[in-house]
Amino acid sequence: MEVFRIQGGTRLVGQVRITGAKNSSLKLMATALLAPGLTTIRSVPNILDVAIMAELLRRLGCAVNYNPETEVAQINVPETIEHRADYDLVRRMRASIAVLGPLVARTGSADVALPGGDAIGSRGLDMHTAGLERMGATVTNEHGYLVVHAPTNGLVGTQVYLDFPSVGATETLLMAAVLANGQTVIDNAAREPEIVDICQMLQKMGANISGVGSSLITIEGVAKLNPVDYDTVPDRIVAGTWAVAAAMTQGDIEITNANPDHISMALDKLVAAGAQVSSSNAGFRVQMDRRPKAIDIVTLPYPGFATDLQPQFIAMNAISEGQAMVTENLFEARFRFVQELSRLGAEVRTDGHHALVRGRANLSGAPVEATDIRAGAGLVLAGLVADGETVVHAIEHIDRGYVGFEKDLTRLGAKITREKSQDFS
Ligand code: EPU
Repeated sequence: MEVFRIQGGTRLVGQVRITGAKNSSLKLMATALLAPGLTTIRSVPNILDVAIMAELLRRLGCAVNYNPETEVAQINVPETIEHRADYDLVRRMRASIAVLGPLVARTGSADVALPGGDAIGSRGLDMHTAGLERMGATVTNEHGYLVVHAPTNGLVGTQVYLDFPSVGATETLLMAAVLANGQTVIDNAAREPEIVDICQMLQKMGANISGVGSSLITIEGVAKLNPVDYDTVPDRIVAGTWAVAAAMTQGDIEITNANPDHISMALDKLVAAGAQVSSSNAGFRVQMDRRPKAIDIVTLPYPGFATDLQPQFIAMNAISEGQAMVTENLFEARFRFVQELSRLGAEVRTDGHHALVRGRANLSGAPVEATDIRAGAGLVLAGLVADGETVVHAIEHIDRGYVGFEKDLTRLGAKITREKSQDFS
């Protein structure tokens, strides 16, 4: 177990480069299953989840080679693949569910362990399964596994209306539909840039998809897809985290290899808080020369404000002037991290899915524990502006979303070290 030890009080100044999006790369790796042959995926971040997805694909019969230096994943998919995703891998990474659609499409069946709840909430699969059933599949829950069988002649295209624009359900249905018989229409589909990324890779593979990036996606099934060479979209949540870091530390950061359009709502909020945001050749730049003003946020599916940036904005509000209301509409347990933030002296009151944050002039360094990736990022940002020393525990969560976080922070001027935890165990 490792911790980050942070001495607060330095401005962050300089340039930071963003790699590919975790939440896209993992799905692109699963997408490779749809085409026998050698798929190459670029800008795949060197995180534990990539190793877990690689292992999952190997157990399905693929040969997977990931090079952390070049960030290239090569996946050689055989003509015949297995159809079981084991509990020991799925429980470690919920994104394993991304193999569900490809497995049903390629093999006609899937046995995927149920991922269960996690630290940010219950996270159901009802929309994934209801959509597959509408396409003719039978779905049962057997001994902790979701067992899915397509009809003998394959899934049948249909009209699916999602109750909510779920990222995961949209992905499952997209990947199931590309090889189905006939036309599938996904209405109220998720529009996240990571969904667009998967659609673009599928199109390159030969899939027939229209309405990409809209909430009405139409897919005409094709008989076969081909392996491709594809580059992952940059990680908008990591880019947004650096943008908040610049604003909170009254710093000046150029964020390169990033698309500001993918986080325009968050950047508008930073401008409302007093920051200057400008575009640069390679991305964008965030500068701040004063204490931020507290700002209200409401999380919503894309293009609304991203839930994955909510903890970072609560951390910023905690040291801002004034008070703000933060409303979380996606994950009910995402406010758990507020208790940890309170250890630094933050004044936050939660009631259901609302959090009222009263900004304070100072936070006070203390030991805290990361409960999930984004909560961990929020706590590190808070530690950067707190007086004295903050030790963030359970940083394995942070490592799942931020490659070499402390190295980038150090280059930008932060005082942060990674150390072995001295915890009693
Ligand atoms: N939901 C259902 N039933 C379903 C599907 C979803 O009730 O069949 C509910 C979930 O319980 C949740 C909400 O709908 O309350 C949103 O779920 P969604 O399917 O949109 O999210 P996801 O696919 O589980 C992905 C990201 C999350 C990100 C969300 C929202 C991956 C691996 N995860 O999750 O990322 O917060 O979309 O944008 O892509 C993170 O990176 O820290 C992270 C949690």
